[in-house]
Amino acid sequence: MKGVILAGGLGTRLLPLTKITNKHLLPIYDKPMIYYPIQALLSAGIREIQIVTGGNFAGDFLMLLGNGKEFGLQHLDYTYQEGEGGIADALRLAEHFAEGEGIAVVLGDNIIEGSFRAAAERFRRRKEGAQILLKEVEDPQRFGVPVFEGERIVRIDEKPARPASNYAVTGIYFYDNRVFDIIRTLVPSGRGELEITDVNNAYLRAGTLEWDVLEGWWTDAGTFESLLRAQNLVARGGANKVEGPFLAERELLTQGAIR
Ligand code: DAU
Repeated sequence: MKGVILAGGLGTRLLPLTKITNKHLLPIYDKPMIYYPIQALLSAGIREIQIVTGGNFAGDFLMLLGNGKEFGLQHLDYTYQEGEGGIADALRLAEHFAEGEGIAVVLGDNIIEGSFRAAAERFRRRKEGAQILLKEVEDPQRFGVPVFEGERIVRIDEKPARPASNYAVTGIYFYDNRVFDIIRTLVPSGRGELEITDVNNAYLRAGTLEWDVLEGWWTDAGTFESLLRAQNLVARGGANKVEGPFLAERELLTQGAIR
């Protein structure tokens, strides 16, 4: 399975920090934000990665990451989103890269403590439909929120004023190749964006959306509060705490082997 990182958008909630760089290049403790979703995909055993970016600083991703040598990769794939048409609009651009197969999608500002390898394995076995990862949060009104009937999700509300549950739909998704047909049917939401929640609701209506709860802490980093939270969480305990090139380096550093 291939992986797509969505790192477009203009990051306007972080102005003026994002006036002279892309949100996903800002530091989260000791690494640029984009390192974390890359490492998360690698931790799930996904090594074919496309980064969707946009805005005025897209070239900086290439300068920073190149072909992903620092992550033990020989190639990274890039594509460019014009404007800020929404998460589903950015995902649309990955159709060519997906080559008819299913994909794992990670939002570029999502950071996790552990790994989503188990969920990825489950989706690899399923092959069809979609799968989301949920996490209990204190502020569900900031996120996509599942509405449950028993164990079943019947609907996902995007940023509801009155959340129906305490769960957020995290920015880690698995989709079969139908996702691109679904995106073609979407219309822009009230905020003028093609919403990933509309994609997930389309899979729900088709009866093919499944969910898991993500282990370990999870945060986004797209507001000043969540950016600080992400930095503190990583500084305290690290992220993606499984084997991987830059983690191995981090562990050596903490053990005092590298100075
Ligand atoms: O973090 C999880 C949440 O992400 C979900 O619970 C929500 O359902 C989902 O809509 C999204 O909410 P946000 O409003 O926080 O998303 P945001 O606009 O901050 O975009 C998140 C990432 O998606 C961003 O870091 C880069 C990518 N993106 C976003 C937009 C709007 C793009 O690549 N292109 C875009 O046009």
